[in-house]
Amino acid sequence: MTGSSTPAEGLHGGFGNHFSSEAVPGALPQGRNSPQRAPFGLYAELLSGTAFTAPRHANQRTWLYRRQPSVRSGPYAPMAHALLKTGSKDGVDIPPDPLRWHPIPLANESLDFVDGLRTMVVNGDPDAQTGVAVHLYGASRPMGNRAFVDVDGELLLIPQEGALRVTTELGVLHAAPGEIVLLPRGMLFKVDPAVPGESVRGYVCENYGAAFRLPELGPIGSNGLANTRDFLAPHAAYDDGPAQPWELVRKFGGTLWRAPAQASPFNVVAWHGNLTPYVYDTRRFNTIGTVSFDHPDPSIFTVLTSPSDTPGWANCDFVIFPPRWMVAEDTFRPPWYHRNVMSECMGLVHGQYDAKEEGFRPGGLSLHNSMVPHGPDADAFNKASAAELAPRKLDNTLAFMVESRWRLRPTAFALNGGHLDKSYADCWAPLQDNFKV
Ligand SMILES: [Fe+2]
Repeated sequence: MTGSSTPAEGLHGGFGNHFSSEAVPGALPQGRNSPQRAPFGLYAELLSGTAFTAPRHANQRTWLYRRQPSVRSGPYAPMAHALLKTGSKDGVDIPPDPLRWHPIPLANESLDFVDGLRTMVVNGDPDAQTGVAVHLYGASRPMGNRAFVDVDGELLLIPQEGALRVTTELGVLHAAPGEIVLLPRGMLFKVDPAVPGESVRGYVCENYGAAFRLPELGPIGSNGLANTRDFLAPHAAYDDGPAQPWELVRKFGGTLWRAPAQASPFNVVAWHGNLTPYVYDTRRFNTIGTVSFDHPDPSIFTVLTSPSDTPGWANCDFVIFPPRWMVAEDTFRPPWYHRNVMSECMGLVHGQYDAKEEGFRPGGLSLHNSMVPHGPDADAFNKASAAELAPRKLDNTLAFMVESRWRLRPTAFALNGGHLDKSYADCWAPLQDNFKV
């Protein structure tokens, strides 16, 4: 790739900021977006992430200057994928129990990122621009000359094992576990292991709804949680090798489609705009908690939010539980027992989650659907109830939650694929009635 940059050299400052980047000096037109002839014989192409008339503060679009326009692709033919699902009921009912999955091993055969996707939970409908899905990815080989584009939603990658090299139309991003990558709806990309020969695995949140953005900060003020400047966009980079056959895979209306292409689609030499992919290091998250007693609702850990049409009821919140100090006085410090009208799907990147020190394993998943009771297991309850409340660092851990106002439906693979933890409920069985008057 010409113009490719190192992992630390991204363009700082996502969400609303305007970037420009050129892999060849002079490739970016100045003063106008579509001059009669773009520099160096490039084609101008507009990628709109919002309706043209979206309010200015929410409007997202990027101008691309490329060797060939992306209309030079197709025709597409349907592509079978047994385990990638979208918004359908998938023939199974949702048990009203807390659900948990053990880490799912990589497939025996060698799969790339697209073939290795497995949908675990899903809701909504991409045609209605509502809902979200949580998939697992597991890849043991690169995508090679294959590019993927998801028209149904944007994708949030949460690496759990192995570093990724993510090639996009706008350039290349690198992400290791602890970092996340946001890929806008409609933008071509490919995901490869950063280290050749290494397997990678992790989670994907596919968001059919309004694009992820930073949450409002309210009384927190003008700083805190995820800060804009820590979202890094790539520098422009394009394939400069000889033309060779490529395959384009397009997720469109819940179906995968494939088409041959005569040359690399990663041919954007320059771009400018505010619709970009990002990488974000969760270690940059400014975690806020109590300095007196109790602890705030977990919404205080929201990194990104996709609002629905009802204020405060998110289509999807992406929330993390990173290392942090626990200092609350006279307080049960782990999460409380609760029932929530919102549906909560959690994953664990590494370490232990404080409400479940055993059983919830890195690479695993849990689902606590709308109004399904959950909370600390009996061990965590007993330990936290008796603990000396000195300041304590909860360290070496990263869990995350995808929370949605709509019920999340596990797929048939999730429920019947052999990875469901059938004894999950046992973790609460030892909780006794301790009532004494
Ligand atoms: Fe919860």
